[in-house]
Amino acid sequence: MNWIIPLADLNYDQNEENAVVSVLRSKWLTMGSVTAQFEQDFAAMTGSPHCLSVSNATEALHLACVALGIGPGDEVIVPSLTFVATANAVLYTGAKVVFADVVSPNDLTISPASIESCITPHTKAIIVMHYAGYPCDMPAIMEIAQRHNLSVIEDAAHCPGATLDGKALGTWGEIGCFSFFSNKNLATGEGGMLTTNSDEIAAKLKLLRSHGMTTLTYDRHAGHAYSYDVVELGYNYRIDEIRAALGIEQLKKLPANNQRRREIVATYREKMPAELGIPFAGHPGVSACHISPVLLPEGSHRKAFQDYMKEHGIQTSIHYPPIHTFSYYREHFPGPHHLPITESIAPREVTLPLYPTMTDEQIDYLVKQVPLALKAAKNSS
Ligand SMILES: Cc1ncc(COP(=O)(O)O)c(C=O)c1O
Repeated sequence: MNWIIPLADLNYDQNEENAVVSVLRSKWLTMGSVTAQFEQDFAAMTGSPHCLSVSNATEALHLACVALGIGPGDEVIVPSLTFVATANAVLYTGAKVVFADVVSPNDLTISPASIESCITPHTKAIIVMHYAGYPCDMPAIMEIAQRHNLSVIEDAAHCPGATLDGKALGTWGEIGCFSFFSNKNLATGEGGMLTTNSDEIAAKLKLLRSHGMTTLTYDRHAGHAYSYDVVELGYNYRIDEIRAALGIEQLKKLPANNQRRREIVATYREKMPAELGIPFAGHPGVSACHISPVLLPEGSHRKAFQDYMKEHGIQTSIHYPPIHTFSYYREHFPGPHHLPITESIAPREVTLPLYPTMTDEQIDYLVKQVPLALKAAKNSS
């Protein structure tokens, strides 16, 4: 479709083009010096001593689970209000997921109280997801994890550049998992990053990322090794130099892009009708403002709202249909689940366009159309 305002858009220019051309001319395409540079730059941004790039965040989440020894017989607590990959990564290991609720209609991150109520003798880990780039309550969650001897994985797909108490999201728990999918704040097409403060976990992740092999093709090309051993059952979850080069350029733009996203959200808060709920008012920390979720008034017809916006050239989305409502999960994890807040807000959630290259004219147009879409949603309910 030819949207007047798409849901998301890339901030790409000549810098990304030059970076890719430079890799192509170097004739070294797989993980090498450009990837090492991207990982170093990401480490400087997050303050994490170990950053390991992978092909996407789903792989990052899977590797995180494997590296922490999660497997059959274990339970992992995850939010239901997240992208399905957060839970799928757990299932790949043979472990079970247990769904926790979110805090409130104003705070769509996983609830510490709900986490606590999901803990059983089989619980091995908690995966939190910093929804829309806003921090989960990490001090409370880390305290619960320590008290029950649980690992914490952060699904940081939405939040490169976000912080809580001055500390980067993705560096609070044992392992952070970032996504560089095309619609993300830092976009490389497909791509992801693992962060950890632990030397031991980093060494394990590094092996698991590349077949459990003790040396890489690049090490042998560089003359550092002739052969290798295989010491783990690993995977091929490597990134390539082309996408790492895009990542380096996108990382340079990230602070200004995130700032612009925050300004746009502030404008939405100021100019949208009061009956529209805009979550995360007064939320602690510095958000990456990855997406702009809003909650329609009770009794609104969500499809009518989205249809009106579509007819007027504005793309909207839903973040997320809760995972426990999907057919596959209903069949394999029928519950009962105790998710009253997730279940009450999810049918009212709509995601509005948000991206750093949005023009003031686009923002004005959007703000003018929303009250009319709300009217349409009321009339058909
Ligand atoms: C919260 C969340 N987790 C995980 C993922 C998976 O990321 P990827 O597409 O890089 O595998 C996404 C991507 O959309 C996401 O939004």
